[in-house]
Parts: sequence; structure tokens; C-alpha cells
Amino acid sequence: MLQASTTLDRVLVLEMVRVTEAAAMAAAKLVGRGDEKAADAAAVEAMRAAFNELDFDGTVVIGEGERDEAPMLYIGEKVGRASAGAPKIDIALDPLEGTTLTAKASPNAMAVLAIAEEGGLLNAPDVYMEKLAIGPGFEEGIVGLDRSASENVHALAKAKGVDPHQIVVCVLDRPRHEKLIAELRAIGCGIHLIPDGDVAGVIAVTNPDTTIDMYMGSGGAPEGVLAAAALSCVGGQFEGKLLFRNDDEKARARKWGVSDLDRIYKLQDLVKGDAIFAATGVTDGSLLDGVKVRKGGCITTESVVMRASTGTVRWVKGEHHKG
Ligand code: FBP
Repeated sequence: MLQASTTLDRVLVLEMVRVTEAAAMAAAKLVGRGDEKAADAAAVEAMRAAFNELDFDGTVVIGEGERDEAPMLYIGEKVGRASAGAPKIDIALDPLEGTTLTAKASPNAMAVLAIAEEGGLLNAPDVYMEKLAIGPGFEEGIVGLDRSASENVHALAKAKGVDPHQIVVCVLDRPRHEKLIAELRAIGCGIHLIPDGDVAGVIAVTNPDTTIDMYMGSGGAPEGVLAAAALSCVGGQFEGKLLFRNDDEKARARKWGVSDLDRIYKLQDLVKGDAIFAATGVTDGSLLDGVKVRKGGCITTESVVMRASTGTVRWVKGEHHKG
């Protein structure tokens, strides 16, 4: 059992929901408007304002990009009121996970964040990460990124007591996954292709109702750390390996302290110690309902907030009368 962090105790768990709610409601105003950038900017601004209402000394370690690329919530930006003695917190955030999903009013867009004590989150550079995830209840290490997709499917099927073709794997629908998809098709597995939003895709393995058994393929490394934070709360196994397309990306990684570029990160390498994960749905999805404007203008939200040390998962339904 993980030790509960007294630093995180001082930041109310539910305050994190206020932050993701604010970002989700701001982005929701732009659902289906065909403008990814405007939706993202609205979410970023609202999340930053909500953070700055809270009394903690926060540092963005995974954010909107490096300082020269992102005007707000850039890596290294300090957020929170930081009065004397306020707890020091590291933050991984994605104010709008699924900008294209939002622009097209497609499922699974969310506002997401994770917090941990200083040094508790891998400062992942903005490169791709090869990801592998399965849900809770399986012996540690039955699957791994050092094995082929086929070996992993067979191992999980054996552990689950089903045939390999009964396993359902979630994969981002990208040309780069052509080989992986062909390998899975040859086994006869179900492949749940998602257009975007692999944070929700990874978390789906922890929820039997989604019927997704495993997550495979590459997506953003920052999203990998966020998903790992959720799994550190609800259980499940996750491995991630950073992928570099050029020397510039390798240099970026070294700058953020990554010395072994071939390392396979396990859950506890990505998220150390106690952590809190919070998300609010922007559009309806496998994890959360999206923001809805009701008759009379009341806005409803659905959020989830989880804590690693206790494993507590809270589902929060909000009714906002002054949206
Ligand atoms: P955005 O919200 O930044 O658009 O990211 C959506 C997303 O699908 C992530 O969930 C995923 O990790 C990443 O993009 C995949 O990147 P790419 O679109 O380059 O394959």
C-alpha cells in the first residue's frame, strides 16, 4: 500500500475537479465548431485561471509545450497562489485531451490533470511513446514491451482464460500502426480503433464494461504519463517507451533529464508515490459524460477524481447555474 502524501492532503482532492470542470466547460462552448485551436485555447485559459485560485505552489511539468511554444501552462510555469508554506506540487495537464474530437463533436474529449509531490511525475518530453496497458487483476509482468504484440495477446488470453481471438485491443487509428493492426488481425482479435484520445483509450482497459482488454501502439508521451497516473490509482499495468523521430527530439528528452533513451518505463517509473488524477468529460465518452447545456441554461458536467494512496475513486456530477 502506498503511503498517503500529507502534501497532497493539503490540496483538496475535489479542488482538482473544479479545475478540470472549468477547462471542460470552456472547451465545451466550442464543441462541433471545427476550430481545434480555439477550443484548446479556451480550455487552457480556464484551467490556468482555476489553478491560480488555489493556494498551492504548483509547477507544470507536463503542459502545453515549452515556454517559447506555449503562452500559457508551459512546462516550468508556476501556478497557484503559493502563499508562505503552501504545498509544492508537480502537475501534468492536458486542458483539452482531444482537440480534434472536440472540433468534430466526437466522443472521448476530456480535460485532464494529474498531480504529485515534487519530483513524482516523469517530465516526459513532447515526443511519441510506445504504450502497452492491461487492466487490474493479472500477475505483474505477464505482458511487456519487450515482447511482440502476438506474444502479449496470447499471454493475456491465457491469464484471462479465453482464446486469443476473444481479446479486444484498443489502438489509435494511424497509418503508423498498419503493421501492428495486421499482426492483431492475423490472430483474429477484436481491434477497437480510436480516432484520437489515448488517455481514455488506456483507461478503458480498467473498465470491464468497455470490453477493451489491452491498449497497444504509440501516442503522445505526455498523455502516457497522464494515463499512467490514472492506472496508479485504479490498478492495471502500463509500460511506456519513448520514441524519437530525430536528433532534435533526443536532445529535448536529454534536456528533461532522460539519460537512457531506450528505457522501458513501468507505472512506478512514470508516477512515483501518491498522486491524484482528475478528468471532466467535454464530449460523451467511455469514461465520462460530456458537458451539456440544459433547459434554462444550467450546465451539467461529469468528472472523476482518483487518488493513488487510497485507491479512492469519486464520480462527481456538477450542476453549474452560472456557466
Ligand atoms: P490532442 O488533444 O493534442 O489533439 O491529442 C490527441 C491525441 O489523440 C492524443 O490522445 C494522442 O496521444 C495523440 O493525439 C496522438 O498523436 P498523433 O495524432 O500525432 O498520432
